[in-house]
Amino acid sequence: MMAFTDGKALIDKLADSRELSREEWAGLISGRSPELSEYLFERARDVRIRFYGHDIYIRGLIEFTNYCRNDCYYCGIRKSNANAVRYRLTKDDILSCCENGYRLGFRTFVLQGGEDGWFTDERMCDIISEIRSCWHDCAITLSVGERPYESYRLFYQAGADRYLLRHETFDAEHYGMLHPPSLSAAHRQECLWNLKEIGYQTGTGFMVGSPRQTAQNLADDMLFLKKLNPHMVGIGPFIPHHDTPFADQPSGTLELTLFMLGLIRLMLPKVLLPATTALGTIADGGRERGILAGANVIMPNLSPETVRGNYLLYDNKLCTGDEAAEGCRGLSERMNAIGYRIVVSRGDSLNHDKTEKRTGGRKNV
Ligand code: 5AD
Repeated sequence: MMAFTDGKALIDKLADSRELSREEWAGLISGRSPELSEYLFERARDVRIRFYGHDIYIRGLIEFTNYCRNDCYYCGIRKSNANAVRYRLTKDDILSCCENGYRLGFRTFVLQGGEDGWFTDERMCDIISEIRSCWHDCAITLSVGERPYESYRLFYQAGADRYLLRHETFDAEHYGMLHPPSLSAAHRQECLWNLKEIGYQTGTGFMVGSPRQTAQNLADDMLFLKKLNPHMVGIGPFIPHHDTPFADQPSGTLELTLFMLGLIRLMLPKVLLPATTALGTIADGGRERGILAGANVIMPNLSPETVRGNYLLYDNKLCTGDEAAEGCRGLSERMNAIGYRIVVSRGDSLNHDKTEKRTGGRKNV
């Protein structure tokens, strides 16, 4: 464990907008203590409140397909999981999720799915433009994995505003331990740079406590986040899924996930930072603890109840009760109880330069 004063000095340095070296990051992460975490969370909350007050933005998550051509070792909807019950929502299904969500106060819809070839660029653009024309005041976020530059550009032109693509882990060797050889850290990162260039509000992120992850790996993740400077960062604990090669691996911890959330808030003060479903899954009150460590976004599930139980990336994923959009009131009450409030808003990134928008992805504009 690191001496409290040494850890505190590093946290103060971060809060001062100064950069940490790889060694400093790794030392801070591996040397953390409960006392140091408390200090970090207080500073992270101050920064969060300075920029976002006590507001919490909500995003309606529509998990529209669980078909996936990839075979990531950690993921329950990987191609080789023959036990997964596969489904695809129709365009009409998706539109009624949006309608329902709008009524509940959502102003961001997140279309998330596996890498499903059925959803060609043409089908995606059709769905995106339909949502765009029905709900002018809503943000459309996509989370459909790696696609060519041109596809990303077409989706943006069709009306998508934001894109979520976690880098999962920066280090190529560690990436190789979590993914089959057909996938690479370099390609994943290239996609992220492309998304930013096109003009998306871009979100990335990683799993905490994924198999064989080291403090050095997390240090590299922090350095990558600093460089990419994304608008959003989604992190959550790794949780094993029983039908994957990582079935017997231990989960990431609440404690380390919260520590990483606090660090991210201090390093990127204006970032949109969700308290994720995975965080709520590993511990009761996990998402509230996430908010108190600096998070400011929650992503309840808007998918139809009939399919919700099939989008299982990991075991015991929350998909009923408060997690579901219907439980929004319950969620609202829980957030009020810790002094925060869910707001009806698109909840755009404070970092996003509006003049950058809608350039069609041309370079040098
Ligand atoms: N545990 C935690 N998170 C997971 N994800 C996928 N599988 C798991 C798991 N077993 C995360 C990945 C992916 C996001 C959609 O869900 O980080 O990017």
